[in-house]
Amino acid sequence: MNNQCMVIRQFSNTLFFLFLVPLSIQAQGELSNIVILATGGTIAGSGATSTSSASYESATVGVDALIQAVPELTELANVRGEQVFQIASQDYTNERLLQLGRRVSELVKSDDVDGIVITHGTDTLEETGFFLNLVIHTEKPIVVVGAMRPGTALSADGALNLFNAVALASSADSRGKGVLITLNDEIHTARDATKSINIRPNAFSSPWGPLGMVVERQAYWFRAPVKRHTVHSEFNIDEIDKLANVQVVYAHGNLDDTLYKEHQRNGAVAIIHAGTGNGSVSSHIFATVLGISQSGVHFIRSSRVMQGGFVLRNGEEDDDANGWVVSHDLNPQKARILAAVALTQSRSAGDLQRIFWEY
Ligand code: DGL
Repeated sequence: MNNQCMVIRQFSNTLFFLFLVPLSIQAQGELSNIVILATGGTIAGSGATSTSSASYESATVGVDALIQAVPELTELANVRGEQVFQIASQDYTNERLLQLGRRVSELVKSDDVDGIVITHGTDTLEETGFFLNLVIHTEKPIVVVGAMRPGTALSADGALNLFNAVALASSADSRGKGVLITLNDEIHTARDATKSINIRPNAFSSPWGPLGMVVERQAYWFRAPVKRHTVHSEFNIDEIDKLANVQVVYAHGNLDDTLYKEHQRNGAVAIIHAGTGNGSVSSHIFATVLGISQSGVHFIRSSRVMQGGFVLRNGEEDDDANGWVVSHDLNPQKARILAAVALTQSRSAGDLQRIFWEY
């Protein structure tokens, strides 16, 4: 590089540093206090080589290392981390959801905590986010974040996703919007977001669109959630000892009734039918599932097709006559979470349907 280029480069670096310094000098007292609860996943993963973007070990990097890897976080907030789990998110259980939820509920009650960021594997991130959206009574921002590439990979997405999550959790505009999910610069409500691509950074989408974007530490909002959540929810983690046993059956041609009967035998209080099309029930399982629902196990029609639509009550099936519930626009995995929370107490099908309309 010739001398002239060297001079330009040094000048631009100096200019950049001078610009940066005022931003990072912001009085510490003015910064929000954000707690990062780490639970594992790809955002904490590591691969064998820099080109191992999709084959890697999940949940290997601890929360302090995640925070140290993004020193820019200190420009946004006073950040501290806690390692709640170090797991791949397919290993979440109802018990782990409750454990995480109880820690979140405890932290948001503290005056010296202004917001929470949860780092999480992307596989079940949407379930955890929706669960917290239903049971945590706070207006403080709670942002769930993951990554599709490990930090060791070229063009890893975790560092910027984490930076965006802290920026979002530190923003006053995020208050009262329920639990949020951010990846790929987008802001989603945890109610709607779902992992719809399993191997690219733009993995998450919401059937009704994102709420906004985070660009260069600034959140840009274009819509807000309208369904009940957090402080407007009738469910409270502090009053839940155990989530209800709710199972999902994925429908397809030639489906038989084995799994429905097995779940009933194992004590499921509701079965989510991930039906074909508009939650259709095939004629050769109808008698079995009607009998199961008449025995007191709720039958909730959802759909394996959940991009931009919803299951219409009394559309393909006579839900009124059968005493069945429809999941509305909630996909099967979200419907399971809502039913598992709602059925921590016994409910009529009519009350359960109200809950699916309102949340
Ligand atoms: N095993 C997956 C999980 O922990 C990795 C996927 C990811 O985190 O992006 O959810």
